[in-house]
Amino acid sequence: MTEQPVRVAVLVSGGGTNLQALLDALHDSTLARVARVISNRPDAGAIGRARRSAVPTTILRDPSDAAELLAALEGMQLVVLAGYLKLVPAPVVSQFRGRMINIHPALLPAFGGPGMYGQRVHAAVLASGATESGATVHFVDEVFDRGAIIAQERVRIEPGDTPERLAARVLEAEHRLLPRVVLELARRIRE
Ligand code: GRF
Repeated sequence: MTEQPVRVAVLVSGGGTNLQALLDALHDSTLARVARVISNRPDAGAIGRARRSAVPTTILRDPSDAAELLAALEGMQLVVLAGYLKLVPAPVVSQFRGRMINIHPALLPAFGGPGMYGQRVHAAVLASGATESGATVHFVDEVFDRGAIIAQERVRIEPGDTPERLAARVLEAEHRLLPRVVLELARRIRE
C-alpha cells in the first residue's frame, strides 16, 4: 500500500506568500500536502490563495478558543504558522508539540517576541546596525518566537537598505526555507 502524504495545516493572518510557496512546492509532492488553511481573518489574502488551490479553509470565530482550533486541526499531522499573528492556545501547543512550526522574518532569538512582526522587525534590525538578518523556522511553544530553532537562512544587509527592501529579500529567503523544512519534517513523520 502506498503511504498517503503527510497532512499539513497552515495558519495565516495576512497575504499568504509563504502559504503560496508551500502550495507550489507541495503541489506534486507525494510526501506532504496542504490539507487545510486556517485563519483568524476572513479577508486574509491567504484565504483567497487557499480557495484558488481548492484547499479547504476554516475561519476561526475566536482564535483564543483551544477547542475550536483543535477541531479545525482534526486529522492534521503537521501545523505551520505562516504569518499567523495570534498566540496559539496552550492546549493546542501541547497537542502538537514538535509538530507545529513558525516562520519569523529575522534571525531569532534576536528581534522576536510580542509586537515584533511585519515592518517593525526589519526597522528594528536596521536601527540596531546589524550587518545581517534572515529568516528563522522554529518549533512553536507557549511563548511568541521562543521555541527551538530548526533552520535559518541568512540575508546580508546592503548599504542604503530600507525596511521595505530588507523585508523583500528576507521574504525570498522565507519562501526557500519554509518548504525545505516542511518537507524534511514530513520525511521524519513518515519514517
Ligand atoms: C512573513 O514575513 C512571516 O515571516 C511573518 O509574516 C510574514 C507573512 O507574510 N511571520 P505572508 O503572509 O506569508 O506573505
